[in-house]
Amino acid sequence: MMMKKSILSIFASIVFLFSFNATAIELNFAQGGGSQGQMTMELTAEWEKKTGHKVNFLEMPASTSDQYVQYKTWLSAQNSDVDIYKVDNVWAGEFGTQLIDLKPYLDEQLEIMPNVLSAYTTAKGEIIGLPYSVGIPMLYYRTDLLEKYNRDVPETWDEMTETAQFIQDKERAAGNDKMWGFVWQGNAYEGLTCDALEWVASHGGGMIVEKDGTISINNANAAAALDMAAKWVGTISPEGVIGYKEEDARGIWDQGNAVFMRNWPYAWSLSNKDESSVKGKFDVVQLPRGPNGKSTSTMGGWGYAVSKYSEKQEVAIDLVKFLSNRDAQHATIAEYSMPPVYIEIYDNKEHAETYTLLPLLKGPSQALLPRPSAQTSGKWPQVTVAFYTAAHEVITGKKDGTTAVAELEKALKKIKGKGW
Ligand code: GLC
Repeated sequence: MMMKKSILSIFASIVFLFSFNATAIELNFAQGGGSQGQMTMELTAEWEKKTGHKVNFLEMPASTSDQYVQYKTWLSAQNSDVDIYKVDNVWAGEFGTQLIDLKPYLDEQLEIMPNVLSAYTTAKGEIIGLPYSVGIPMLYYRTDLLEKYNRDVPETWDEMTETAQFIQDKERAAGNDKMWGFVWQGNAYEGLTCDALEWVASHGGGMIVEKDGTISINNANAAAALDMAAKWVGTISPEGVIGYKEEDARGIWDQGNAVFMRNWPYAWSLSNKDESSVKGKFDVVQLPRGPNGKSTSTMGGWGYAVSKYSEKQEVAIDLVKFLSNRDAQHATIAEYSMPPVYIEIYDNKEHAETYTLLPLLKGPSQALLPRPSAQTSGKWPQVTVAFYTAAHEVITGKKDGTTAVAELEKALKKIKGKGW
């Protein structure tokens, strides 16, 4: 009797183990770290609990440009080990043919804000990534310091520069020798493309390559915009800014050592944490404008994509849909200060109680300037390298703005060849 029972229970456990192994799938997921990486892992843990599947995260380098190089290597090798990639919104043209078209599988995700979803849509209309947030760059400023020195929130780059210098000088004279006026992203990488596009467009200097494919960068407004930034280096911005990425700028800001910072909304919740020196002492506003243009914010943001070489596509699709639905947004946007991708969430009163920035981001979320990746199609990776290299040469004093934009025009014409 005893014997019979244990044989039965062994048999039952084998059946159970067999059935569990037959359905439990392990996925590999490549993504950047930081707070957004943390957010994705938290949500994924919920999905793992719900489905019994397991996900291994592969942490990518902090620079978007380095991440791009790694993805390119894997995708060109038709690597079947990576199932899901977190992709930047400018990569649809480049990786479009190596990522699966998610469109036939979508339901509520089709209601994502059209300006955002279109960044993940290929020329053929395939949706190759599902955004979980849209990046809206803002000017962070110290409310306490502006008040102390009786200065208004700047609306133009000139006003920002003048106020930054004024407060930096005063604070230093008072013994605060670490104070800087303005921190931003000056490393030679995709982040500089975002910042420099804002300077150029907000000076009325166009968007590097216009919507119709015309190369427009060689103009006096664009040159003036780059020259303006070159003057910041070593005056209101540390010499080291030419090597800064997002987190370097935030490091200085977070210690209370900057009057202004250009950054994405993820920095808002981190700056509001107890351990931040600027908690309760800052606010954000739209980026300043130049003499001939209007305030411009480059569209940022990331989405989830499934590799064509994955052997577990069905399960991977289920996860990326889970991560980009409304419930996932409601669960995380306030804690991580992510701008949502469903328009009505910007009006959510409950979130706005703690995430007070949320309602203010609604207008800007509709007015973002996409980088010209769609019109330059698969050539965007070369275009952005040419652009940020030119911008970097100006901010490091190797060239003046006029020379840099003239040479950049030539380089872009070569990249364009007979057509984008
Ligand atoms: C942010 C943006 C992304 C951009 C990157 C540049 O991560 O979301 O779109 O390319 O910054 O550093």
